[in-house]
Amino acid sequence: MPPSVDQFRSAFLEELHHVSTERDLQRLRDRYLGRKGGVVSSLMKQIAGAPEGDRRRLGQLANQFKTEVERAIDERVQALKALQQPLGSVDISLPGRPVAQGRRHPLVILRDRLEEIFAEMGYASVEGPEIEDEYHNFEALNIPPDHPARDMQDTLYLSQPVEVRRATVPLSDPFDFAQGGRAVEQINRPGTLLRTHTSGMQIRYMEAHEPPIRIIAPGRVYRRDNLDLTHTPMFHQVEGLVVDESITMADLKGTLIHLLKALFGPDARALFRPTFFPYTEPSADVFVSCHKCGGGGCPVCKRTGWLEVLGCGMVHPAVFEAVGYDPERYSGFAFGIGIERLAMLKYGVDDIRMFYENDLRFLEQLPQ
Ligand code: DAH
Repeated sequence: MPPSVDQFRSAFLEELHHVSTERDLQRLRDRYLGRKGGVVSSLMKQIAGAPEGDRRRLGQLANQFKTEVERAIDERVQALKALQQPLGSVDISLPGRPVAQGRRHPLVILRDRLEEIFAEMGYASVEGPEIEDEYHNFEALNIPPDHPARDMQDTLYLSQPVEVRRATVPLSDPFDFAQGGRAVEQINRPGTLLRTHTSGMQIRYMEAHEPPIRIIAPGRVYRRDNLDLTHTPMFHQVEGLVVDESITMADLKGTLIHLLKALFGPDARALFRPTFFPYTEPSADVFVSCHKCGGGGCPVCKRTGWLEVLGCGMVHPAVFEAVGYDPERYSGFAFGIGIERLAMLKYGVDDIRMFYENDLRFLEQLPQ
């Protein structure tokens, strides 16, 4: 039975139809036109064995088929080439790559928010050095040499003191320069430690300025703490200081109640509980009513209804004396807020380390 060229042709056309790459096409060519075992050459062989009378006609058909295969494959090569993009071209039909959008870190958001709330109340925001000397971090704040805060256990001391060159007026604070800075020659003491709180900024600012004073000082602080659920060796605080004639505790309370309502909503209530800080008298720990349960008691507030948010008090006369202010004439209040702590309360985060792990799954859950 003579082979049917038509059958091979339709098989070939079917296969050609499914070819989409140059590699597949090369395989198809090998299979049909290969010298050894190629479809066309075995077809020729079979024809050689066909009866005399058919041989010539079959040979012509087979040759024709061979030409057809060659041409069809060449055409497809050209067609595939035409589909290829010229070098450096852009396929505008591809879907766009998403642009990764940056966002502010929750601690930055909260710091900005605090600065905003205080700016509305007329406070200037100032920054100071993270490498401090014992005078500004402790002594001038009425923290005696035997106070536990000074202990090596709590404070990170530098292995050797560093000379810090600070200007006579230590802050670049255009707000206050406009009012006239205080020309006090600052004794530049060598830095011996990483500041354990932002309270040293009270001293630095008063040394360089006359009252009235209304500032906040946000920044990093350092403590010799190991990482755990509620401690990191570096965290952030915002210090506040107000000094003028006849500033009273009512001013302190009004200011902080306003702050808590601005942060936690108009229904937030504040509780002031007496405590001790060497640089304020009287001193208070401030609590805000639990925003989870509204004060009724729940696991977030450990069933007390209150969350501790900051420390504050009326500036101690010894602090005024250290900066050469007359404590008979001036009074003031100060406060210190831990930004991480506030963020944990506000966003219901129970592990402080989350703020430093840069895990986008966490960060993206917090409001912008
Ligand atoms: N310095 C305190 C701390 O690090 C916070 C603080 C408490 C600051 C009372 C103050 C204050 O200005 O009056 O925990």
